[in-house]
Amino acid sequence: MRNIILIGMMGSGKSTVGRRLASVLGRPFVDADTVLERRCGVPISTIFELEGEAGFRRREAQLIAELAQPAGAVLATGGGVVLSADSRALLHREGFVVYLQASVSDLWQRLRRDRGRPLLRTSDPRARIEALVEQRDPLYRDTAHCVITTGRQPVDRAVNDILALLPADLAAAGPRPGDAPVTDAA
Ligand code: S3P
Repeated sequence: MRNIILIGMMGSGKSTVGRRLASVLGRPFVDADTVLERRCGVPISTIFELEGEAGFRRREAQLIAELAQPAGAVLATGGGVVLSADSRALLHREGFVVYLQASVSDLWQRLRRDRGRPLLRTSDPRARIEALVEQRDPLYRDTAHCVITTGRQPVDRAVNDILALLPADLAAAGPRPGDAPVTDAA
């Protein structure tokens, strides 16, 4: 069974919404960043420090090639996963991809106190968010099968929006026979 794959900016709610959606559907939840941190044994910020953004992107793309394979899971991806054309094509082909779209001001409200995201360690993090949205919004739209708006509304509203958009084969609860085992469920 295809994975339901959540893409979107940092702060758009992929992990929170994904975890709740997985629990409603009775599916495993996998958070790509958490898997990467667990495998590397260090936080994402340390990978950026040691290997730069390019090193992180290489690791991220390799991991996504693995996690994108159909496993009947809900997969939350890192916000920059769409920067790789290969990953974009793979996610769209192998999964059902939902873009969690949020406005710059809502993202800023959620991220303004964040200290864990290396890309926001700049003198003007709000401007960075704005630039990233401008660059990535077309890539998210290109990769996704559908778009939902997240922001100030409650998590359950986003979950219900996704449930309403799921194709019939994905709306049924629970993994199916033939699904690959999920070894890195978060
Ligand atoms: C990034 C988003 C982060 C993480 C890394 C880079 C990005 O994930 O992968 O800090 O490029 O937008 P979240 O979207 O889960 O915060």
